[in-house]
Amino acid sequence: MDIHGHVTNRHHQLAAVDPEIASLVRAEELLQHDTLRLIPSENYVSAAVLEATGTVLTNKYSEGYPGRRYYEGQQNVDPIEIIARERAQSLFGVDHANVQPYSGSPANLAVYLAFAKPGDTVLGMSLPMGGHLTHGWGVSATGTWFRGVRYGVRADTGRTDLDEVRDLALRERPRIIFCGGTAVPRTVDFAGFASIAREVDATLVADVSHIAGLIAGGVHPSPVDHVDVVSTTTHKTLRGPRGAMLLCGREHAKAIDKAVFPGLQGGPHNHTTAAIAVALREAATDDFRTYARQVVANARRLGEELAARDFDLVSGGTDTHLLLIDLSRRGVAGKPAAKALDRAGIVVNHNTVPFDRRSPFDPSGIRIGTPALTSRGLTEEHMALVARWIDRVVSDVAAGSEGGVATVRAEVRELLAGYPAPGLPV
Ligand SMILES: Cc1ncc(COP(=O)(O)O)c(C=O)c1O
Repeated sequence: MDIHGHVTNRHHQLAAVDPEIASLVRAEELLQHDTLRLIPSENYVSAAVLEATGTVLTNKYSEGYPGRRYYEGQQNVDPIEIIARERAQSLFGVDHANVQPYSGSPANLAVYLAFAKPGDTVLGMSLPMGGHLTHGWGVSATGTWFRGVRYGVRADTGRTDLDEVRDLALRERPRIIFCGGTAVPRTVDFAGFASIAREVDATLVADVSHIAGLIAGGVHPSPVDHVDVVSTTTHKTLRGPRGAMLLCGREHAKAIDKAVFPGLQGGPHNHTTAAIAVALREAATDDFRTYARQVVANARRLGEELAARDFDLVSGGTDTHLLLIDLSRRGVAGKPAAKALDRAGIVVNHNTVPFDRRSPFDPSGIRIGTPALTSRGLTEEHMALVARWIDRVVSDVAAGSEGGVATVRAEVRELLAGYPAPGLPV
């Protein structure tokens, strides 16, 4: 069925072979069509990107790099990977791009393999403060095989204090420093981190997974002139397939390539490489720059509308696509709020907030972002309505009521019917 309930042959082969999976895929299409997806790491890829991920390239093995493979039959795969690399290099202004990492976590692991030895110290943002697991957090391999030390944000500003980072770096002498994170609403000061990394002779890595699309679109400063390596997923604001890239100068190219293959991975996922190439072509257009500007404008307006409704925004607002909201003041925890919003057709994730007094499994906050709704064409004029919906549901949860959920669900559905999502059957 399509989103209107009509029978379609979009997945007819899949439906014939495996009706159970086909019907779940269709249900997911419907869910992505008629819910307001506010998870900041999610998006809607274009139909072209989606198509590239479903090609026969998935049949091909290509261990190695273009021109230096361990398998024959690379007539088409080599040019695809070369094109993807060149587009990444040109879009981000770097000498070298490796487009083979399977995803963001293996990309970061490759960085450790290239620049550190087990037991070395790595300095990254603490997970509950907004950092990522792979920046040396304890439960991750990166915090088990390496010695993770952490910076955070200041309680009074909700922002990272570079004096504190510098003191830590001078004391702990990290081999690698990570900047960037997974719940960071503010601009990352790459130049500030670079001067600290230079002082302690550490390798500086910018993990721009969340903001790569904003950098490509010219609405967040680029780390390229400041850091040794840029690590990024391709599937968040950049609006590509699930995958990752490592970008660096010529001097680190060999170490990065060796770490990805044969250091960490086997054959690259060629269907993903093709889809990354398509996404990078799209990201070099004026339309993409307009989208990136709109993502930030929407987040800023949504933040203002939420703040006006007594929502406590970590750091007081946002410079990016992302808002981190501490719900303590509203008398609600993050998880029940996120679950009620989900019932109302608004998809967010519960999240720790800096200095959270609750557990990571039941934290005080929610994290929301504007990339997906922007890809559907929503603009600032819709943000008051979105804030009103969130306020209604969260107020209901605080009052122990479900009263507004059904109304909001219907209103969300009605608004989104007018804004078809890229890549979905309409
Ligand atoms: C900053 C950052 N780095 C790395 C990753 C890991 O990416 P993946 O989930 O593709 O392994 C994420 C994903 O959430 C992220 O936000």
